[in-house]
Amino acid sequence: MIMERLNKYIASCGICSRRKADELIQCGKVEVNGKIITELGYKVEEKDIVKVNGRIISKEEEKVYIMLNKPKGYVTTSNEQFGRKSVLNLINENVRVYPIGRLDMYTEGLLLLTNDGDFANKVMHPKNEIEKVYEVTTSTEITDSQIKSLESGVDIGDYVTKEAKVKKISKDKFEITIHEGKNRQVRRMCETVKIKLLNLKRVQEGKLTLGTLQTGKYRYLTEEEKNMVE
Ligand code: URA
Repeated sequence: MIMERLNKYIASCGICSRRKADELIQCGKVEVNGKIITELGYKVEEKDIVKVNGRIISKEEEKVYIMLNKPKGYVTTSNEQFGRKSVLNLINENVRVYPIGRLDMYTEGLLLLTNDGDFANKVMHPKNEIEKVYEVTTSTEITDSQIKSLESGVDIGDYVTKEAKVKKISKDKFEITIHEGKNRQVRRMCETVKIKLLNLKRVQEGKLTLGTLQTGKYRYLTEEEKNMVE
């Protein structure tokens, strides 16, 4: 009889990452054999019937790893809130995948999607400090003092950002590399130092780069790329 922690089981069914599974369990969204389970360490075995949000889940066979160039105007939540377009509408696959982390509605660029909870966990876990590179288009040229502030960390209200790296590309563009993923972090950092941001695009996550992938298009990660996320 193989026993497995409930969060790990949910992640291995391709529903979400392990951390998200913890949230679902704590919110009372998970049932085992008809009973709501809120205990994080609960163990399940193969014969148990597990439901998430009222739907029975089961292990998926094939794991899928996708890189999407997210267009602006799409949300990264799985459910289409208030009729907004979801990135999932752009993915035409037989298996269900979900976005790893988020990009806000008006941000474009590199977004990974998968049904492999362990992989999602690796990409998202703060301890791995995966770097994310964003290309920022501005209305005015960034100043040296703004660069210094962004690099040393700024107070964005509920959080002081960690060290970042800024690389000026042209008069109206710079790249910023961060290792955290607070909500709307780059936008809030720019607001704090009074930079008027016109466009935000993620161009790199870990060692994975967007390259020439067209907006709205996606591709599978290569074996090599899958192993690059550590
Ligand atoms: N920073 C933002 O402001 N938005 C994103 O989507 C990601 C990082």
